[in-house]
Amino acid sequence: MSEKIQSISPLVDQFSRTISYLRLSVTDHCNLRCMYCMPEHDGNGKPIKHGKFLRHDELLSYEELLRVVRVAVEMGMSKLRLTGGEPLVRRGILDFIKELSKIDGLNQVLVTTNGVLLGEYAEDLLASGVHQVNVSLDTMQRDKFKQISGRDYFDKVWESICTVERLGFKVKLNAVAMKGINDDEFLDFARLSLEHSFQIRFIEFMPAGDAGSWSQCRFCDSDDIMKKIRTIGSLEPSEKQRSSGPAKLYTFSSGGREGTLGFISPISHHFCDQCTRLRLTSEGRLRPCLLHDIETDLRVLLRGNVSDDVIRNAIRDAIFNKPKGHQLSTVQDVVEKSHCSGGMSKIGG
Ligand code: GTP
Ligand code: 5AD
Ligand code: SF4
Repeated sequence: MSEKIQSISPLVDQFSRTISYLRLSVTDHCNLRCMYCMPEHDGNGKPIKHGKFLRHDELLSYEELLRVVRVAVEMGMSKLRLTGGEPLVRRGILDFIKELSKIDGLNQVLVTTNGVLLGEYAEDLLASGVHQVNVSLDTMQRDKFKQISGRDYFDKVWESICTVERLGFKVKLNAVAMKGINDDEFLDFARLSLEHSFQIRFIEFMPAGDAGSWSQCRFCDSDDIMKKIRTIGSLEPSEKQRSSGPAKLYTFSSGGREGTLGFISPISHHFCDQCTRLRLTSEGRLRPCLLHDIETDLRVLLRGNVSDDVIRNAIRDAIFNKPKGHQLSTVQDVVEKSHCSGGMSKIGG
């Protein structure tokens, strides 16, 4: 237990934020090789050597994950997001989700996926109680999809997105904004929001991920993206802003039609003071902040035959000691002060 006096609620941290949202990276494996996450080549086309993927016994088992979630929900957590790597590549994921949906008090089980397997899993996900998915899609161009993700799966992903939209899922599309890569498509994405029910979010490229793929010449500031979009329509803060998490939502209107766009701006507009998240990495480490390398090894506790009280205390400590936020505001900060060496695929974004 931390020496500082803890507040009465185990979910409130020392900066008065209530941490009610747990993100589980269920695997570090993935069926894509996105350039901002686990690129296969560096900027000069040289192959990049990554650390090994985790062995099955290094991942938390579903039983271990369920135990952590049950304890967290008993403490008051109510929202859970499954991430990865790619969560849908882990064998048995649907049965795991079914078990999660039986946990009393867990109001939302959500999934962030790259969409490759989503079409095949969509109906089963719906039947298991998952009604919302966030899907990564950085380009609408087939060749570029292959360039960004290392695999030729654009058609499959787009079909998946259309399937889940048709089935009535609430869908958010995530596009990591990268200069010289997809900045020529920002207007296309904005127009796409006029034709579909889904929310399209532009995400500032974060200095997280394997092999230091972040580069200042790739960074796009959300304000610049908004300025560009305003050349083809109006962009007004949306009524749906509440509970939108880190995304700032806007209604985009053009030619008499409307769509919803979101901007996730961790570098240019910090949202740390409103952060509600705790992460569990795929190796079973509790991580209170994406951009701080502070972690608690829960796996060693789970495998050490400890009581639920010990797990509860570890969660409470991780929450209480959640850093106030990150200090990255300028490109120079990012170069000098970035603390996210874990790799996005293990942390889960
Ligand atoms: P919802 O608000 O539940 O829809 O989730 P989300 O938008 O946070 O989830 P998603 O997994 O789709 O993440 C979208 C992007 O936001 C990813 O690039 C994440 O890395 C980033 N992100 C999510 N949470 C945080 C956070 O707490 N801090 C920072 N810096 N980035 C975050
Ligand atoms: N910067 C910004 N977003 C990232 N994601 C993965 N790596 C990065 C990064 N370095 C996004 C993915 C996915 C979400 C979970 O995180 O696009 O949608
Ligand atoms: Fe939360 Fe850390 Fe992200 Fe800030 S940087 S919003 S504290 S996870």
